Amino acid sequence: MKSYIVGNWKMNFSVGESSVYLHKLSQKLRASRGLTVVVSPSFVALQPLSLQIDRKKLRLAAQAGNPHDFGAYTGAVSYTQLRGIVDYGIIGHSERRQLFHESDKDIRASVAAALRNQITPILCVGETETEHTFGETEDVIRDQLLGGLSEVSTEDISKVIIAYEPIWAISTTTDAHLASPDEIGDVAGFIRRTLKDTYGAATAKEIPLLYGGSVNPSNAGGYLTIPEINGLLVGGASLIADQFIDIIEIAKKVQD
Ligand code: PGA
Repeated sequence: MKSYIVGNWKMNFSVGESSVYLHKLSQKLRASRGLTVVVSPSFVALQPLSLQIDRKKLRLAAQAGNPHDFGAYTGAVSYTQLRGIVDYGIIGHSERRQLFHESDKDIRASVAAALRNQITPILCVGETETEHTFGETEDVIRDQLLGGLSEVSTEDISKVIIAYEPIWAISTTTDAHLASPDEIGDVAGFIRRTLKDTYGAATAKEIPLLYGGSVNPSNAGGYLTIPEINGLLVGGASLIADQFIDIIEIAKKVQD
């Protein structure tokens, strides 16, 4: 299966800095059929970057979006407005769920809105540290998955990407909180089984499953060789162009 490296820049970089970064990335990258590289800048940078980007090498993702198409939603940007600017949309990131109170209902509507506007949803799921400690991971992941996907038809599910991001492993600086490949493999297997129960084995097998949570050049290779994992969602390390490029190079080697 194709693999994906997605850089989530979160609320970092000015428009100018984003453009300089993209230029550097574009110069270093060669187009690869088996690997899709995606970057996700802030809303303000998306439109200018969409004019600059070489789509053979790189694609853009929105970090969030409003599921309504148009209307009186002050401060919001809809997937309809993002259509043609981005190819992907990160949906249900834990920071959106926790800091912006996005519910499964909002997330489900966003997945549907993205699909309706030819934007590939990257649906993020992941448990908190407490849920992890109390053995509730599978229940939480099942609820988030089924909650986010319940309006997606069997035909459309092949246009969705899932990202497993355990919240306790996001933006950690100590190895103590890194998720181990075995732990990720168990949850990834569970996600695949849950998708299989809903959409059938043949369809479930084709849905890309990414891992995210403190990915860096030293652990990327280990994560990319987990059997059920088809790519990485990178936060902090994607802010440093050289680290992000290293991760892309590692992914290319794993693909070959
Ligand atoms: P991190 O972020 O790589 O800094 O842990 C990942 C994410 O939040 O998507």
